[in-house]
Amino acid sequence: MRRERLITTTPRSALFLHCRAGFESECAAEIQQRAQELGVSGFCKGQPDAGFVLFESNEDEGAVRTHRAVAFNSLVFTRQWFVIQGLCEGLPASDRVSELVRAATGIPRAADTLLLETPDTTEGRELARLCRGIRAPLEAALTAAKLLRPHGGEEGSRLHICFLDGATAFVGYAPAANSPPWPRGIPRLRYHHDAPSRSALKLDEALLRFLTPEESTRLLAPGMQAVDLGAAPGGWTWQLMRRGLSVTAIDNGPLAPEILKSGLVSHLAADGFTYRPKAPVAWMVCDMVEQPIRIADLVARWVEQGWCEQTIFHLKLPMNRRYQEVQRCLDLIRRRLGKKAVRFSLTCKQLYHDREEVTAYLHRL
Ligand SMILES: C[S@@+](CC[C@H](N)C(=O)[O-])C[C@H]1O[C@@H](n2cnc3c(N)ncnc32)[C@H](O)[C@@H]1O
Repeated sequence: MRRERLITTTPRSALFLHCRAGFESECAAEIQQRAQELGVSGFCKGQPDAGFVLFESNEDEGAVRTHRAVAFNSLVFTRQWFVIQGLCEGLPASDRVSELVRAATGIPRAADTLLLETPDTTEGRELARLCRGIRAPLEAALTAAKLLRPHGGEEGSRLHICFLDGATAFVGYAPAANSPPWPRGIPRLRYHHDAPSRSALKLDEALLRFLTPEESTRLLAPGMQAVDLGAAPGGWTWQLMRRGLSVTAIDNGPLAPEILKSGLVSHLAADGFTYRPKAPVAWMVCDMVEQPIRIADLVARWVEQGWCEQTIFHLKLPMNRRYQEVQRCLDLIRRRLGKKAVRFSLTCKQLYHDREEVTAYLHRL
């Protein structure tokens, strides 16, 4: 990407959106559609595998309006986002701080936290040392300039600084209520060595992403019943089990023996598409690798019939028309439940641990 052409509109009329590298066109299609629905005209710029997209509006407040009106949770392919306040190019290695502070001047309110970011790409990750080194002097300078509030109070607003390389950075802001707290939208999760598979991290991230801490405690309480469709070797079952839930694990494949010893897990070699629980359960999770529309139909049936109160499931993305396919699946669920007047909430995200899939959370209200 040629640096001088990174943005063409004035600052504050553009958004920076982080996404998984390789999914720039889905991220762009989605934000463009959502802005259009709001009557905000604009266009997207992005390069394949850049790990981010820029949305530029022709209107002065177009980006601000879009950021305010579009719920972050309603975007599938955006992992993190902010309104661009300024773009620094040619940052001198001897003093990046002064220019960054200058670029941040004029943000609507002093920020409570500073997120130092890079795109989630190999080049981006190589800038981790720069981010670590600059944090303390930058925080001190931003605080002195009254652009960053001393730590302590409730988090209302975030200042984002996203380095593309050592000399180029976007500076922007986002209200804390409509964006996730993690740089690039990626939570730090610990891999537990007693988990039967690395897939365990996927459900861990989904629960962190979709549930508030209060909901986590209330909705994932010990003694609750859960069903895991496509459970083997047992990473998702393990996540539920370690929270004290009793899990019926459905899979023709074998489960890791350790989780069966817990007394909380029963394994049933059955087809996840035809299995029905004997009594309603709190949770159904589904990680079967299947056509996404079949999974959408299945989870809609579970919630419609009241077989589960809530479900977390994967939708495997096709090679082409990935954005359209996700929309088709979500529309099917909405339509099916809408027809039966079922009240529900549905959130879908491409999470950090998702590759060619997205993760969704459907909750019967
Ligand atoms: C990606 S793996 C699941 C990994 C699991 N979530 C974990 O954390 O370890 C997909 C599983 O779905 C199972 N599966 C696929 N189709 C199925 C079906 N129709 N019924 C039951 N299990 C199915 C496969 O046997 C496979 O074990």
